[in-house]
Amino acid sequence: MFYQEVDEEITLKLLVLTDSQALFQLTDQSRESLREWLGWVDNTKTVDDSRSFIEHTLQVYDDKKGLHAGIMYQHELAGIIGFNSFDWTNKIGKIGYWLATDFQGKGIMSRAVRSLIDYAFSELSLNRVEIRAAYENKKSRAIPERLGFMEEGLIRQAEWLYDHYVDHVVYGMLASEWEAQ
Ligand SMILES: CC(C)(COP(=O)(O)OP(=O)(O)OC[C@H]1O[C@@H](n2cnc3c(N)ncnc32)[C@H](O)[C@@H]1OP(=O)(O)O)[C@@H](O)C(=O)NCCC(=O)NCCS
Repeated sequence: MFYQEVDEEITLKLLVLTDSQALFQLTDQSRESLREWLGWVDNTKTVDDSRSFIEHTLQVYDDKKGLHAGIMYQHELAGIIGFNSFDWTNKIGKIGYWLATDFQGKGIMSRAVRSLIDYAFSELSLNRVEIRAAYENKKSRAIPERLGFMEEGLIRQAEWLYDHYVDHVVYGMLASEWEAQ
């Protein structure tokens, strides 16, 4: 089972079904801020939806197709981080993340992403980690930029968000670059 200590305040852990209520509450409390950038928020209406998400993440983890972890901040669930997918042939992982409103602005996500990348290059032997963020999503883009990712390009109309498309900026980090910095 995936479990990673980031620092004295933050740990990353695979969620289990008993976390469903906490995950739903967190999502529900932050609905407004999350839905600006995440397309699944309006479809998360009840605890059962959060339970289905956790079931999905456990299956994906077993199948080695992805890795989604809860971010625990001072022992409280604060958000989700993970690899939405792995491309094992080319050793690429694509990171996604969100934090509930109350936990933003404390550097939690930057620290969590840094730790997940350490894990990806050292334990999973990936060669490339990718982060995509909507062009206008300044807070999300600040994370790869803070961690020294290279901005590699723009994918036009990459995602449908409720009533409009957004462009994605692609950031990449290579194992050799991470080791060097
Ligand atoms: C994207 C998202 C996770 C960013 O959250 P965040 O709190 O801004 O990111 P961090 O946790 O890394 O915190 C960074 C902030 O904490 C501050 N900070 C404090 N201590 C810090 C530390 N040790 N390290 C880094 N930053 C620190 C930074 O200065 C920064 O504040 P600023 O925005 O005022 O400059 C959040 O906005 C979110 O969940 N958005 C909705 C979902 C979303 O967009 N997901 C991404 C889809 S691609």
